[in-house]
Amino acid sequence: MRDQQTPNIFRTSKLEEADGPGLNPTGNRTMGEIIAARFSRRGFLKGSMAVTAISATVSPIALLSAGDAQASSASAFNFPEVTAGVDANHHVAEGYDADVLLRWGDKVFADAPDFDPANQSEAAQERQFGYNNDFVGFIPLDGAADRGLLVVNHEYTNEHLMFPGIVTIKDGEIEVTEADETRVNIEMAAHGGTVIEIRKVDGKWQPVLDGALNRRITAKTEMAVSGPAAGHARLQTVADPSGTKVFGTINNCAGGVTPWGTYIMAEENIHGYFMGELPADHPEAANYERLGIPEATYAWGKYHERFDISKDSNEANRFGWIVEVDVMDPASTPKKRTALGRFKHEGAESVVAKDGRVVFYLGDDERFDYVYKFVTAGTYNPDDRAANMDLLDEGTLYVARFHDDGRVEWLPLVHGEGPLTEANGFASQADVLIETRRAADLLEATPMDRPEDIQPNPVTGRAYVMLTNNTKREEANAANPRVENAFGHIIEIIEQDGDFTATTGTWEILVKCGDPKIAEVGATFSTETTVNGWFGMPDNAAVDSDGRLWVSTDGNSMGDTGRTDGLWAVDTEGSARGTSRLFYRVPVGGEMCGPCITEDMTTFFVAVQHPGDGGDDWEGHGRPSYYEDLSTRWPDFDDAMPVRPAVVAITRQGGGRIG
Ligand code: FEO
Ligand code: CA
Ligand code: CA
Repeated sequence: MRDQQTPNIFRTSKLEEADGPGLNPTGNRTMGEIIAARFSRRGFLKGSMAVTAISATVSPIALLSAGDAQASSASAFNFPEVTAGVDANHHVAEGYDADVLLRWGDKVFADAPDFDPANQSEAAQERQFGYNNDFVGFIPLDGAADRGLLVVNHEYTNEHLMFPGIVTIKDGEIEVTEADETRVNIEMAAHGGTVIEIRKVDGKWQPVLDGALNRRITAKTEMAVSGPAAGHARLQTVADPSGTKVFGTINNCAGGVTPWGTYIMAEENIHGYFMGELPADHPEAANYERLGIPEATYAWGKYHERFDISKDSNEANRFGWIVEVDVMDPASTPKKRTALGRFKHEGAESVVAKDGRVVFYLGDDERFDYVYKFVTAGTYNPDDRAANMDLLDEGTLYVARFHDDGRVEWLPLVHGEGPLTEANGFASQADVLIETRRAADLLEATPMDRPEDIQPNPVTGRAYVMLTNNTKREEANAANPRVENAFGHIIEIIEQDGDFTATTGTWEILVKCGDPKIAEVGATFSTETTVNGWFGMPDNAAVDSDGRLWVSTDGNSMGDTGRTDGLWAVDTEGSARGTSRLFYRVPVGGEMCGPCITEDMTTFFVAVQHPGDGGDDWEGHGRPSYYEDLSTRWPDFDDAMPVRPAVVAITRQGGGRIG
């Protein structure tokens, strides 16, 4: 999702740059009047064109000629790079096919109604592929490489792109009429996730609509709460005095697939779904403030009282968790796993450590919030799936402190240890988990530049942290080295002895992102990185079976970078380290999510999120984009169809390994 913002139905539906300072009250920052636009390419080109690229790079081959650099390349990747740019279509490297697999509104079940954008309904949407696909995971069935379950998060909805007849343009800005109950219920059905069988037929993936495991999960699906906070008084509501039964999951950003083949959905920007007010002296007031609750970007609370905190003050404590879905049973109740803490969960990618315990890396996507990891108490049993099904209920949650000398310390969030005591408002581990951010504040974790996906690399024992941007940073430190960090950076964590459960390690910056030609940006891609190869705003990542890193981005099209978001291959080893090249790019207005490469490395599934959301700055459109006047009608290019978020399957022409 763009910069923590949901479309605001009460002001404008357009996703706006978040100008808030972040919600972390610790540390010394003031509200700056700094805007990301200052770092726009156009802005820099006016003033600083004369500076050469060399001064902004650190590659050991920085002083070689272009020809020498090419010859010395030790890149782990080999594909013809896509030309960066902006247009209405998507583009993949030459020699590859990018085939649309599932679009918003496509049938998930054989008996689902056909997509009819002019006559949408909640009942239809509950049987169709949801909106704004984000995380994508692939779970093979029966060990087959050509048959499996695709699991896809539907993070949020863009009303101005989804519904006809609701937009007016005022002073060049989009205004959307407030949602009625019917629209709210369609939106709720378009959230959540999809589990769908897919199969490769004649080299092309296709959905299996009569797949016995196909499933839609929505903002109304019944879920159970498990782990240390289950049943706690702060999770009890009028409708659920047990504190263990919740309806729905929302704003599911990235996620994960566990080693035992369950689907993880991370609840991220939950604040935008709640309205109403709490009295200032309410016991949950500080808790909610730390998460920015409420923000009322959606009208759900008007028709569903649980989303109005003045009517049900505990419902918001039941969101912001990691959700685990047993995809092998379509009737299973998804579980909110409270042991992994409550915050704006970006994702939860996991790895089996040397001793068999499983480690989940967790980012909290807010300016000045933290990097976490969770280590299970039990060990993974590869021979007994059932034995792993509650591994996520017991373990230790840690938050990271990045020292300036290059060490990283993982600090346990355990009730009774250090400041996490009753005196500070933590009466139990449940309190520590419900208010994870406040607990981490007290442990003096390092406030980061918006931690997004964190991808462990089982081949090297390292992990890659995507830090997408933070234009409000006024004081740099070693791990967040740029003030007004408009383009983000990637940190590489080297766990002690390659042990993912370690409580200490070291870290390095893999790359500071942005255009290396603009010295003030301070980007550090290698000099082998071409004009197409650099990117800003790293968001999601994947590591393939060879241990190679792939990075997808969110926000390049908003920053006037001359390129849309996309999927980049980034070298991490040897002299090519820090070299990036563009493999795939999305249509105008879109964001690149969910990169998921199959174990045999023959298919890359990618999620094109909110295509057509924007186009004001693109010469091909040059005005606001909305249902009746879209900057692109990808992927159908049919005047009767709106633009549609979609999952794309990328394969090599003639078959074979990608990249
Ligand atoms: Fe939904 Fe942090 O991106
Ligand atoms: Ca994301
Ligand atoms: Ca990932």
